[in-house]
Amino acid sequence: MRVAIIGQGYVGLTIAVGAASAGHSVIGFDVNPALVDQLNAGKSHIEGISDKDLGSFISSGTYAASADASVLDDSDVIVIAVPTPLDDQRNPDLSYVHAAAELIQKSVKSPALIVNESTSYPGTLRKEIAARITGVDHLYASSPERVDPGNTQWGTKNTPRLIGGLTPTAVAKAREFYDSFCDSIIEVSSPEVAEAAKIFENTFRQVNIALVNEFAQIANALGISGREVLDAAATKPYGFMPFNPGPGVGGHCIPVDPSYLAHVANQVGVPATFIKRANEVNLAMPAYVVKRVIAGSGGSIKGKKVVVVGVSYKSNVADTRETPAAAVIDLLREQGATVTWHDDLVATWRGESSSPITGADIAVVVTKHDGVDLAAIKACGYVFDCTGSIAGVDGI
Ligand SMILES: NC(=O)c1ccc[n+]([C@@H]2O[C@H](COP(=O)([O-])OP(=O)(O)OC[C@H]3O[C@@H](n4cnc5c(N)ncnc54)[C@H](O)[C@@H]3O)[C@@H](O)[C@H]2O)c1
Repeated sequence: MRVAIIGQGYVGLTIAVGAASAGHSVIGFDVNPALVDQLNAGKSHIEGISDKDLGSFISSGTYAASADASVLDDSDVIVIAVPTPLDDQRNPDLSYVHAAAELIQKSVKSPALIVNESTSYPGTLRKEIAARITGVDHLYASSPERVDPGNTQWGTKNTPRLIGGLTPTAVAKAREFYDSFCDSIIEVSSPEVAEAAKIFENTFRQVNIALVNEFAQIANALGISGREVLDAAATKPYGFMPFNPGPGVGGHCIPVDPSYLAHVANQVGVPATFIKRANEVNLAMPAYVVKRVIAGSGGSIKGKKVVVVGVSYKSNVADTRETPAAAVIDLLREQGATVTWHDDLVATWRGESSSPITGADIAVVVTKHDGVDLAAIKACGYVFDCTGSIAGVDGI
């Protein structure tokens, strides 16, 4: 099939490589010309996609990136994989999805299967994409992406894929496409069900992470180890699923997607109270971390040198979107500390560069990548570990 993918970020490039590996002829379209040049030079910007694999698809002619929208026409399949962030009021910002629909409206004159993989609320495919594209008889399906960057066990191939279409023909065509590089396809009765399933999955995580974050604070105040309690509870073979406490939630999904559900819930008059409360708890975690660091450092961190270790939102990825490290650093600085940060995967961020761990009075480990220098962390006067993975130090 001739496949065009709109957006070559984490999701779009992952799907591009999946489709190319199945032998489809793939064009990765992106509005960022620097990214397009980088990809065409065989340089991947995503963990899990090697330069070697990308280069081999480019040289075999199965993949090319482009910033020219005319490449979208004459495709069998067009996949939309663009950002779906929140605006300043934490409401859904569908401007990228609308821009993708406008591109298709302008540039695509031959009928294609149009699949939306971007995460959004139920009704997006039907009302925000299909309704904006007129004059050509396209097929429309929703197949929300479930990729978990950095996860070596579950990837595009073996994570079951949901498909909901506007028509049975759209579902059949989408099945044919995804069958070529995914092990398991699950058809649902409408795109709205597929869209809602994706945001409910991430809401489930957001709410449970908030629950465990609140519990960790209760356990600490009770003088017991929250992590030991969780390990003990997890020995129950049924009815319990462990989640880990931490400094908050980050990335493009968990802090964002539940607010898409809350937005539509509000529109239909059902308050999404769990989402609201979970946001409050998770967003307050950086303040809790800083409170504990101050308590553990004798009541003040004024004038102390603090290194925050790991600023990406989770281990072994370089993604700093919505990372709680930002609030942790800002709050530490508000308390008068001199704060640097260290991250082997993030060279520069917020106009600052990664600094060495050594020489700090206090190390606050927000995210722990494999291979981080544990000896250097432990050599700091006081260590606060948000990851629960460094033995013998203070932490959540
Ligand atoms: N990152 C994840 O782990 C993940 C997992 C599942 C689902 N999702 C969802 O997938 C969607 C994409 O997320 P992502 O992480 O890949 O985002 P990203 O920011 O990594 O990539 C998006 C890309 O789209 C490009 N873009 C923006 N507007 C465009 C347009 N009009 N035309 C062409 N390209 C355009 C950007 O330049 C960027 O390269 C979002 O809805 C997200 O919620 C993300």
